[in-house]
Amino acid sequence: MTGAAGPAGGLDPARLRERLRAIEARVATAEPGTIEVVRAPGRVNLIGEHTDYNEGFVMPAAIGLEIRMAILPTDDRLVAVTLDDTGETAGFDLDAIGDPSGSWIDYVAGTAWALAGAGLPLRGFRGYLASTLPQGAGLSSSAAIEMAAALALLGRDAPVPVAERARLGRRAENGYVGVQSGVMDQFASAGGVADHAIVLDCRSLRYRPVPLPLPDVRLVVCHSGSSRKLEQSAYNDRRAECDRAVAAIRTIDPAVTALRDVTPELLAAAADRMDETAFRRATHVVAEDRRVHETETALAAGDLEAVGRLFAASHASLRDLYEVSSPELDALVEIATAVPGVVGARLTGAGFGGSTINLVRREAIPMLRAAVGRDYPVRTGLTPTVLDVDAVDGAGWVDEA
Ligand code: GLA
Repeated sequence: MTGAAGPAGGLDPARLRERLRAIEARVATAEPGTIEVVRAPGRVNLIGEHTDYNEGFVMPAAIGLEIRMAILPTDDRLVAVTLDDTGETAGFDLDAIGDPSGSWIDYVAGTAWALAGAGLPLRGFRGYLASTLPQGAGLSSSAAIEMAAALALLGRDAPVPVAERARLGRRAENGYVGVQSGVMDQFASAGGVADHAIVLDCRSLRYRPVPLPLPDVRLVVCHSGSSRKLEQSAYNDRRAECDRAVAAIRTIDPAVTALRDVTPELLAAAADRMDETAFRRATHVVAEDRRVHETETALAAGDLEAVGRLFAASHASLRDLYEVSSPELDALVEIATAVPGVVGARLTGAGFGGSTINLVRREAIPMLRAAVGRDYPVRTGLTPTVLDVDAVDGAGWVDEA
């Protein structure tokens, strides 16, 4: 698949309502106005990788590839969702959520589990879910399902702030699904700002929008087509290595509670108190946090060359120090970087496969597509997907046009 991405016909709210009505008698007889539609976008991260669970800074943007769900609220305490893609239906009882099943419904059930655990009143619903967000591309399709589910479960009249919805989405991942991820993906999906990235402080959950150099420069995602091998165990290993670094640094400065608190000087002073792997991981995180701020400054100054250098430094650090890149992601970055008009290219998200994010001058997009389409399959034997994406607002309700 190549092409401009955006809400396709498959996400048309009238179609989703119609499909939901076709599912069961109770829905078919519902007043049309009682069927609501929620949307939640995927995300790319511009810079600040593997910093969120170290309580540092990230710079994601919500993108115009999203999930939408038509919902009929019910008072029977049951949730059932049907997927547009496969026709599969799964669900659970809000009063007996049960253990994770290992399937996509866990993202909905986990969200219900986390929201209920926070004492929030929830409602049952029947849902019909469609998506333009590719799975396994590292674009946070699971966070998007969680953030859409949160709105569906809470309802329009019980608004919960973005930071709280994101925090509870992370709790669903950590405590129910069993993935020890940070808060970035859920926050970006819930709190994205159209035409902007956001700089998020993952400790305080305060954020500010960062204008993107639009319309001259576009966000282009290149999906490597390689699955994210070993992602979960390697991801958790990285977290443990960061914890080892923090423990060593605390022997010098007990005020440190996360790598976010560590300066390059303090890290250097603690170097001989930790193993070499922990030191390399911490070196990445400490520098990456600074790159987020430097990128924000460079974007504000319109200094795209500096942004490009920061992207390159981030990718090299993720490849060499944090060791979460892959030959495929390296190939995509190398191919893109050689194209005139590509401002910057780096892996985005957890790594181990998935996608790169590219800042590309609008007129250079055809050249980037051509170069990736020509060189990437030769180098890797895989088929890439190039997606030119908008930066969009975070999750919300879709009102009938
Ligand atoms: C995944 C996780 C995020 C974050 C990134 C790496 O996307 O879900 O919380 O840790 O990896 O920056």
